[in-house]
Amino acid sequence: MGLLGLNLTCAVAILLLLFSTRICSAQLSSSFYNSTCPNALSTIRTSIRSAISAERRMAASLIRLHFHDCFVQGCDASILLEDSASIVSEQSAGQNRNSARGYEVVEEAKSAVESICPGVVSCADILAVAARDASVVVGGPSWTVKLGRRDSTTASLSQAQSDLPNFTDDLQTLINLFNRKGLSTRDMVALSGSHTIGQARCLTFRGRVNSNTSDIDAGFASTRRRRCPADVTKENSTLAPLDLVTPNQLDNNYFKNLIQKKGLLQSDQILYSGAPTKDIVTEYSKSPSIFSSDFASAMIKMGDIEPLTGSAGEIRKICKAVN
Ligand code: HEM
Ligand SMILES: *[C@@H]1O[C@H](CO)[C@@H](O)[C@H](O)[C@H]1NC(C)=O
Ligand SMILES: *[C@@H]1O[C@H](CO)[C@@H](O)[C@H](O)[C@H]1NC(C)=O
Ligand SMILES: *[C@@H]1O[C@H](CO)[C@@H](O)[C@H](O)[C@H]1NC(C)=O
Ligand SMILES: *[C@@H]1O[C@H](CO)[C@@H](O)[C@H](O)[C@H]1NC(C)=O
Repeated sequence: MGLLGLNLTCAVAILLLLFSTRICSAQLSSSFYNSTCPNALSTIRTSIRSAISAERRMAASLIRLHFHDCFVQGCDASILLEDSASIVSEQSAGQNRNSARGYEVVEEAKSAVESICPGVVSCADILAVAARDASVVVGGPSWTVKLGRRDSTTASLSQAQSDLPNFTDDLQTLINLFNRKGLSTRDMVALSGSHTIGQARCLTFRGRVNSNTSDIDAGFASTRRRRCPADVTKENSTLAPLDLVTPNQLDNNYFKNLIQKKGLLQSDQILYSGAPTKDIVTEYSKSPSIFSSDFASAMIKMGDIEPLTGSAGEIRKICKAVN
């Protein structure tokens, strides 16, 4: 790419020998692969659609993978790197272990793209496109994905542990974790709407459904306890839908559930526990279109977190290992 990838301001800055990375930082652009790999997006879409038609839950898993990538070192596909001599994988962080999934689906999309344009399209961009394509397949909004992210040559297990939210976090902690990534409280609530699809393991909601707190619907708690008893020696991994009503549709039902005290995770229900998020939950519960457009904008914002651009990082040959 060389100078072609740099905008005018940047070229001028170089001519003036002003080596400011701030001025020179390349911007993501939706047409990034138009000349170098015009069929990149359609190839990714075919691959993602077929994976989701084989298993509907994969849509949820792919959206979550992009989130767990972007919150750790930015959207750089660091989450895809497996343990090796130089890498301590983020995949073993508590928030990812036996939980994050879809790695092989991303690897397959990458291999399809490599076969048409070797060494051009980053794994980080594939994650961003896959998340958008997944949303569309399960009835959620579409958006224009900005491209041009490059892949990291490092991973950070410690940042995965510190920067990814936990289901036991209180509201202020959740808000802070998102604010630190440049995402507002409103973005956080919109993005949590991802929990309108997908599944969670018993160990993530055992405490909530077995504690008889006043913020859970009694019938809902009792149903969930049947396959997730209080006794930890009995069960950890049975799955329950995050949205009991429409578990495979990316709609605003999640927010309606919260108002009825039927959020599965403590971190879901807590969004309806008071200012400053309660009113946003109510707003989204009433307006599918406001939720939809806010969700799309927030996904774009999340995809903008600290990308590697220009000559930083690399374009991996396969997603699970550095070149
Ligand atoms: C607000 C803080 C959040 C917390 C505490 C949280 C926590 C969790 C937990 C505990 C699970 C279940 C994991 C398991 O049992 O294996 C889960 C699933 C999921 N999360 Fe979140 N999450 C949060 C925000 C988000 C965001 C921002 C997104 C996407 C933009 C997201 C997307 C998903 C999806 C789609 C699933 C289902 C995945 C599947 O079925 O494979 N979550 N989350
Ligand atoms: C890039 O390609 C897309 C899809 O073919 C097209 O919609 C868009 O207008 C193109 N953008 C530029 C700047 O050429
Ligand atoms: C989340 O919090 C629970 C309870 O405090 C703790 O047992 C668990 O290890 C935490 N999980 C992660 C991934 O930090
Ligand atoms: C919660 O209520 C259920 C059903 O009434 C009961 O079986 C269970 O022991 C209670 N759990 C706690 C922690 O009080
Ligand atoms: C569930 O996890 C807990 C805590 O790690 C462990 O003590 C318990 O044996 C596990 N239960 C099962 C059924 O695997």
